[in-house]
Amino acid sequence: MDSKHDKIPLFWSGREEHALHHPQFPRANRYHPEWVFRNQMGPHVLWLAETLSTSMKLSPGMRVLDMGCGRGLSSIFLAEEFGVQVWANDLWISATENYQRFQEAGVADRVFPIQAEAHALPYAEGFFDAIFSIDAYHYFGTDQMYLGYFAEFLKPGGQLGVMVPGLHQPWPEQIPRYLTEPQAHGGAFWAWDMATFQTASWWRSLWDQYPFFQLETAAALPDGGHLWAEWERRFRDYPGEKVFPDDLEAIAADKNRYLTFVQLVGRRTQVEF
Ligand SMILES: C[S@@+](CC[C@H](N)C(=O)[O-])C[C@H]1O[C@@H](n2cnc3c(N)ncnc32)[C@H](O)[C@@H]1O
Repeated sequence: MDSKHDKIPLFWSGREEHALHHPQFPRANRYHPEWVFRNQMGPHVLWLAETLSTSMKLSPGMRVLDMGCGRGLSSIFLAEEFGVQVWANDLWISATENYQRFQEAGVADRVFPIQAEAHALPYAEGFFDAIFSIDAYHYFGTDQMYLGYFAEFLKPGGQLGVMVPGLHQPWPEQIPRYLTEPQAHGGAFWAWDMATFQTASWWRSLWDQYPFFQLETAAALPDGGHLWAEWERRFRDYPGEKVFPDDLEAIAADKNRYLTFVQLVGRRTQVEF
């Protein structure tokens, strides 16, 4: 597969373990590593999607919003693994580009691409059985008003599951130098918008205050920093074209001290807000 435009199979058919194989993720292991690497927009989206899916109830025919789906890998995964219908919503990636990917994956009859900004969503209130979001909610969901708007798109009883990059403990006053100094490739890991990386208890206190919402889980992945470094290591070793370099140096130096992923799951409880 030399050209960027080659069609990559969705599933891995080799007998041997592939470059993204991980014993913790039997579902994600089914997908072709080249397909994941070429469409990646951050830490392995299917590892995170598989983790989050184990805390949610997803059953065939459900209507699921995949919010901030990027290139829609998690949307395809949800349709394939759980038989749900998915509205694959993103801002930076166009609906046309994602539609092509969904057609190639053979899921275009149940995964629907939408390009919409998180504060101007084109959905009916109460439409979704579940909302799912990987590595995106921190871009638009950190203010107190947002969940009041967003949860309205869920049916009463509908589940919201979010996985975001986050912290085991709050950032110290001085961000560690191993995160702010340039890595060997010249770029630093740290950027100002990483102030949106928060602890599970920060998210808990944000999500606990709404009368229409029942928070079930707010937890940092105990080994999240190691998992993140594992992804960066595999990405570093990937020989194909990369739009941006890996961050292995900075994330491995953190040693799971601050950086991890935070998982949030809860339900809309009320009919009327
Ligand atoms: C780091 S990428 C992750 C994409 C994908 N979930 C994944 O893990 O590969 C973050 C995504 O959030 C989406 N996003 C950021 N701000 C947004 C906003 N205001 N409204 C809708 N989507 C947004 C972007 O379009 C982008 O695709």
